[in-house]
Amino acid sequence: MMREDNKKSLASQELLERVDPAKLPRHIAIIMDGNGRWAKNKLLNRIKGHEKGIDAVRDVVEACREMGIQYLTLYAFSVENWRRPASEVNALMQLLRNYLLKERDNLLKNEIRLSAIGDLDRLPESVRKTLFQVIGDTAHCEKMTLILALSYGSRWEIVRAALRIARDIAAGKMREEEVTPEVFSGYLTTAPVPDPDLLIRTSGELRLSNFLLWQLAYTELYITPTLWPDFTREDLIEAILDYQKRERRFGMTSDQISELHAKR
Ligand code: IPE
Ligand code: IPE
Ligand code: MG
Repeated sequence: MMREDNKKSLASQELLERVDPAKLPRHIAIIMDGNGRWAKNKLLNRIKGHEKGIDAVRDVVEACREMGIQYLTLYAFSVENWRRPASEVNALMQLLRNYLLKERDNLLKNEIRLSAIGDLDRLPESVRKTLFQVIGDTAHCEKMTLILALSYGSRWEIVRAALRIARDIAAGKMREEEVTPEVFSGYLTTAPVPDPDLLIRTSGELRLSNFLLWQLAYTELYITPTLWPDFTREDLIEAILDYQKRERRFGMTSDQISELHAKR
């Protein structure tokens, strides 16, 4: 066991050395998918997959913190996930509450601020209470921000932003001409956070499933067949290494990008 662990940490150490600290993504977003299939492959109940998924969450949060990633957004429960059988929804809510209760001290110790986006009013009272408790307790933490997307749906968020803008215009707080993409971003639940640089989706699905549709406009996508409960810190580093090989052009030409880098 000991030797296995040593071997593992060596592998991750070697990978880590290849990461360019100057080109780290500032914000990583992850669609944590494949818990159910992981369990099914092992002839287990889907809930066992979600339980195992929590271990992967812990590892990835810790790895991001150690590497110096500033923002990590985890898609934990979509607004569409309310359509799952009540037994699964209840188990997920229970797991979420337990995770928050258990992780509170760890987040504080590692100076990680917790935040949440989504239609949080739909969460059961006990979960919401615990969530806001931990958010409050970690509000002063500044080393990293962990954002949980809970009961989150991007279309819900965009419609809500549009309605709020309409209201502000009607109330004379803002003029129509002032509504730019930047101002619009300010009305989204993600407002103070920069857009993700890297989006990871596990379990090989090639879709966004109503996640951060606006914010992902220029995000680099990384999709891996690995199921979420099997996703390790090595997988995370692989994703970052892949990201670092890419040229982000934002509509410009490759030559323009090289010039910009040369000027810096
Ligand atoms: C992701 O795993 C976790 C949540 C959506 C809550 P799934 O539960 O979607 O797992 P699969 O896609 O059925 O394998
Ligand atoms: C997306 O996964 C939501 C989360 C990971 C929380 P789903 O498993 O719900 O997505 P679909 O339904 O396969 O698109
Ligand atoms: Mg899924």
